[in-house]
Amino acid sequence: MTERKDDGNYGGPVTAVSAQLFKAALSRFASGVTVLTVRDELDDHGITVTAFASISLDPPLVLASVAHASYLHEVLLRQDLWTVSVLAAGQRSIATRFSETGRPSARLLLADLPHRRGSHTDALIIADGMVALECRTEQRVVAGDHTLLIGRVLDVAYVADRGAPLLHYTGQYTTPVNPPPAPPRTRTGDPWPA
Ligand SMILES: Cc1cc2nc3c(=O)[nH]c(=O)nc-3n(C[C@H](O)[C@H](O)[C@H](O)COP(=O)(O)O)c2cc1C
Repeated sequence: MTERKDDGNYGGPVTAVSAQLFKAALSRFASGVTVLTVRDELDDHGITVTAFASISLDPPLVLASVAHASYLHEVLLRQDLWTVSVLAAGQRSIATRFSETGRPSARLLLADLPHRRGSHTDALIIADGMVALECRTEQRVVAGDHTLLIGRVLDVAYVADRGAPLLHYTGQYTTPVNPPPAPPRTRTGDPWPA
C-alpha cells in the first residue's frame, strides 16, 4: 500500500478529478448538518458545516472542516472555544440562515429562536437540535483550501431523546424516512447508553 502525505501538492493524477466531479461524487455521502458558533471580542459568529465528524473517544475529539474563504475561518484561528449544534429535521431554515454570504451576527440570526450561551465557551448553543457540544480547538491542520479543527469536547450541552436529524444529501436537505427511536435512558438518567 502506498501512502500519500498531504503536503498541499495536489499535482499528478488527482488533478483529473474536476471540482464538478468531486462535488457530484461527494454529494452521495449523506451527512448530518451542524452549525458551529464562536464568540470573539466583537460579536457572535456562526457557520453551517456538514464536514463534521467524531474522531476519538479517549480523549473525546471531534473534527470540523472550515474553508479558508469563510469569514469565520479567521475568527477560528484566534478563538479556540466554539460550540457545534447538530440540527434537527425541522431546522433547515437555520442551516440556510447560517450559510448565507454576508449574514449578520449569530446573535441576530438566533434572536427569534431558542438558544443559550455555553458555560465553557460563551458561544451560542442552538436549542431543539439533536445534540450540542462545547469544544476547544486542540489542533489545526491545513488541508487544501480548508482547515481541520480538531476539538476536544468539553461538555455535552444536551442530547435529544426524540426527533429526527436534518440530513444533507445530493446537495439537498432531507430527513430520514424512518428515524429509529432514541435509545432508552440509562439508570443515571443519561439519554444514551453508558
Ligand atoms: C449544506 C451546507 C454545508 C456546508 N458545509 C460547510 C463546511 O463543512 N465547511 C465550510 O467551511 N463551509 C461549509 N458550507 C459553507 C458555509 O456555510 C457558508 O455558506 C460559506 O462559508 C459562505 O459564507 P461566508 O464566506 O460568509 O462564511 C456549507 C454550506 C451549506 C449550505
